[in-house]
Amino acid sequence: MYLKQIELNHFRNISAENINFGKQINIIHGRNGQGKTSLLEAVFFLAITKSFRAKSEKIVLQHDKEYLQIAGLFETDKKDAFSVRIFYSVADGKHVFFNQNKIDKFSQLIGKIPVTLLSLEDLELAYGVPANRRKFIDILLSQVSPIYLQALQIYKKALSHRNRLLSLISENKENSSILFPWDEQLVKNGAYIIRLRQKFITFANEKIGDYYRKISFRNEQISIKYKTNVPFEAETGEIENVFKQTLFDNYDADVQRQNTLIGPHRDDLVFFKEGFPLKTYGSQGENKTLLIALKIVESEYLKEQTAENPILLMDDIFGELDNERINNLIQCVIPFGQTLITTTSREKIKGVPEESVRFMEIEQGKVVK
Ligand SMILES: Nc1ncnc2c1ncn2[C@@H]1O[C@H](COP(=O)(O)OP(=O)(O)O)[C@@H](O)[C@H]1O
Ligand SMILES: [Mg+2]
Repeated sequence: MYLKQIELNHFRNISAENINFGKQINIIHGRNGQGKTSLLEAVFFLAITKSFRAKSEKIVLQHDKEYLQIAGLFETDKKDAFSVRIFYSVADGKHVFFNQNKIDKFSQLIGKIPVTLLSLEDLELAYGVPANRRKFIDILLSQVSPIYLQALQIYKKALSHRNRLLSLISENKENSSILFPWDEQLVKNGAYIIRLRQKFITFANEKIGDYYRKISFRNEQISIKYKTNVPFEAETGEIENVFKQTLFDNYDADVQRQNTLIGPHRDDLVFFKEGFPLKTYGSQGENKTLLIALKIVESEYLKEQTAENPILLMDDIFGELDNERINNLIQCVIPFGQTLITTTSREKIKGVPEESVRFMEIEQGKVVK
């Protein structure tokens, strides 16, 4: 996927800009607080219809302005062109347009523009709570499969219904048979969610070590484990029956806690180096290298599953990396097509083939050269 041009109005500190991007590496450089992250945020917004760092549109709307607009012109790897426009105003809410036509459900856009984001906040993925890792894998798989996104939405609804009913049961206002239809939904959609997550982890385990070693220059063994509390029949791949049985066995505990304790909404990913959990034993540098490798694997998976190169967004991640590692990293991402990289120092990027790079400097929300 190639984002040819983006037009921004009143997005964060960017008042009105029209920016053309190169097909391969784009280096967006500038001092702190000039709008680099905001630009990547706008690109992500076009693909996912949400910000990666703000919970509401109000926050990305430029101070004292009534509306914001982001419009992008894209070209697929097969050379089909299309446009996406997002409009938000305080008075009228958010509207999304695909080729000028208004989209009813934002989820219809997800997956059309495959995108991978790597930012410092992603360290939360390594160190933070399991919810961060589930969010990572859910965004990825929702881009890969609309059915996954749908399963996830149904699952979450069923879960919140079930939890509400558990409260009523614990107060003797309902009896347990009322859970039955919700358990069916949880099992059916939950099994689908677990299978797709497991499939990605299998793929990731084949690839992640190579990328890790390429960036770190260390010959270390890396692996990822998908940790689920739903017993999984590894031999047959059977999930539904064991899931149902486990829900049933946990019924009393669920009623007592008024909460569903079993299911993929409590799953987690664990990263290992040489057999030890990286979160506990790894250095910050190692965790960072792992994340970069994971994001490259994510891009590869998106490419394989959607038959389209994703757009890679890398926000200010060069911090402690030396030039050689940065170069290695850039070499790793070149095959994926378009990449947007922000950095405070242009000097950090050296030795990348000139024909694949476009530099632009951003100052106070404007591209100055
Ligand atoms: N809603 C907003 N309206 C106007 N300015 C904003 C808004 N949100 C953030 N800013 C400002 O935009 C500037 C650019 O932020 P950012 O893109 O994060 O900078 P950086 O180049 O360091 O990545 C900052 O000075 C920030 O205070
Ligand atoms: Mg920034």
